[in-house]
Amino acid sequence: MDEISAPLEAAATPLAPALLLRRWSLADAAGLVELYQDSALRRWTSAALDDEAGAMRWVRGRQKGWRAGNRFSFAVVESGTPGRSGELVGHVVLKRGAPGAPSAEVGYWTAAHARGRGVAPRALQALTEWAITAFAGEGLERVELLHQVDNGASCRVAQKCRYELTTLLPAAPPAFPLEGHRHTWARGFLATDS
Ligand SMILES: CC(C)(COP(=O)(O)OP(=O)(O)OC[C@H]1O[C@@H](n2cnc3c(N)ncnc32)[C@H](O)[C@@H]1OP(=O)(O)O)[C@@H](O)C(=O)NCCC(=O)NCCS
Repeated sequence: MDEISAPLEAAATPLAPALLLRRWSLADAAGLVELYQDSALRRWTSAALDDEAGAMRWVRGRQKGWRAGNRFSFAVVESGTPGRSGELVGHVVLKRGAPGAPSAEVGYWTAAHARGRGVAPRALQALTEWAITAFAGEGLERVELLHQVDNGASCRVAQKCRYELTTLLPAAPPAFPLEGHRHTWARGFLATDS
């Protein structure tokens, strides 16, 4: 899959700079280790990046996903602010099943220092718009977002991006000790898709 020749973009807001979504690079490893000192990131994501070697393995895994055409991961960086341009602030991923599958799943996180300024919703919106265009000819009809019920911030991100709450999921310990939400974006929800 090489439908992305340039980074995806999300516009600035009155309070936050614009964002670029680009592929992960091995040069991000040191920054990733720093961001993964955060307990919320460790709690809500499956990775624990303790050192640069581990972070490089993680980046290589993301690069492999692009080559395999089933997992499309983007580093989210700020752009357009002198002195802060290129600063790593988050991650979004589209997990695509078999070619032709009608659904895909998204995941995301925001660096602790950048939370509360709309990084995740703006990046998720850009990812969703990209996905529906990139996979239009391959039958993609819906994108799903799953979170545990006590992750209120993630639920809010889903709402902001108009992912509708469609299913209450039972607990699945040990990974998910509490119930969860499945939110779904379906083709036609987005204003740009009408
Ligand atoms: C969830 C996460 C990605 C949100 O990223 P963000 O870039 O800070 O998103 P936002 O700027 O929209 O801020 C979060 C929103 O959730 C709200 N929020 C925060 N904690 C909340 C809670 N416990 N309950 C309800 N809403 C909450 C905030 O008020 C804000 O909404 P607002 O802008 O309407 O005030 C971020 O908190 C994170 O990285 N968490 C750890 C990883 C994670 O949980 N990933 C998702 C796994 S499903």
